Amino acid sequence: MIGTANGYRVSITGLGCHVPERVVTNEEMARFVDTSDEWIATRTGIRERRIASPEEALSDIALPAAQEALQKAGLSGREIDLVIVATVTPDMTFPSTAALIADRLGAGEAGAYDLSAGCTGFMYAIAQAYGMLAGGLSRRALVVGGDVLSKLMDWTDRSTVVLFGDGAGAVVLERVDSGGFLGFELGADGSGGMELFIPAGGSRTPTTADTVEAGQHFVQMNGREVFKFATRILVASAERLLAECGLEASDVDVYVPHQANLRIIEHARAKLGIPRERTIVNVDRFGNTSSGSIPLALADAAADGRLRKGQLVLMTGMGAGLTWGSSLIEWTANGGPS
Ligand code: ACO
Repeated sequence: MIGTANGYRVSITGLGCHVPERVVTNEEMARFVDTSDEWIATRTGIRERRIASPEEALSDIALPAAQEALQKAGLSGREIDLVIVATVTPDMTFPSTAALIADRLGAGEAGAYDLSAGCTGFMYAIAQAYGMLAGGLSRRALVVGGDVLSKLMDWTDRSTVVLFGDGAGAVVLERVDSGGFLGFELGADGSGGMELFIPAGGSRTPTTADTVEAGQHFVQMNGREVFKFATRILVASAERLLAECGLEASDVDVYVPHQANLRIIEHARAKLGIPRERTIVNVDRFGNTSSGSIPLALADAAADGRLRKGQLVLMTGMGAGLTWGSSLIEWTANGGPS
């Protein structure tokens, strides 16, 4: 799916993020599995990640992010008419975490639902919210991207557990007079679905004592295949969208790729010809936070002044599905810490 923006102009008018307090460094990881800071840092660029406490669920991490986004937009929860939560780790299978968050925010009139597109969830969710606003169905939407993948990791499997962290980001989308979203490109290739998946817990293989015994409720990944897919798709999706919008990579002021692995980010950045100083990287501090990764990176860039009004921002995500998604936006929010 690809298209340029038409209909009402829509932009991000508020941005917030939140991560659990507990920092787990690579050295600490080496106490759980046979690994080292040197291996993790050179292969992935990750130095540390945040890990939720046993009591913390997605909504606990997402709510402060949502509240900050609303506050930055100058809105109360009551004024929101759509809540989308992009995640693969909802509090429960149902009710949706979006419904729980809408209730906590006082958004009693909002439509609310969760969306699952692996680490690409946030890109899918902002495209959907954009469509609802551009078409006139919604006036003020809250989009949350967040995951608590530490709860679905096999903490004895060094090939997966070192890669992921927990966190959430949130944005408010509203109509604007100028600037805002320019276009989206989304895709999925289900033939690669089994490269990154959780075998049990769905209707195909419900959780039983046997599936738990076999560890089938944990994330399983073919790292090399996902790596190949990621390096190819981050570039291809961005190039397709830039061409559709009549823009060049050299027009991009701020590049926000999915934060899975520094080597993947470096490869995509170099291939696209985007300078390092225009590329947002925080995988070193948070690891791969799945649907939280892009909004967390946006919030980082806004907080330290790298994301400013009028700039052209390119975001590209990829993840389980296998899925991918890109968006171009002329930034309109003032951003920055409150
Ligand atoms: N510590 C030490 N050694 C390790 C670790 C570890 N944590 N993990 C694997 N190794 C070992 C392997 O066992 C292997 O040993 P061997 O050669 O004796 O068999 C060796 O390191 C090399 O393993 P590779 O898999 O070849 O390492 P590679 O350089 O490919 O890096 C990695 C692995 C980091 C997982 C990489 O493939 C990758 O980043 N893939 C993409 C993952 C990703 O982005 N996933 C998220 C997608 S988004 C979503 O939707 C969730």
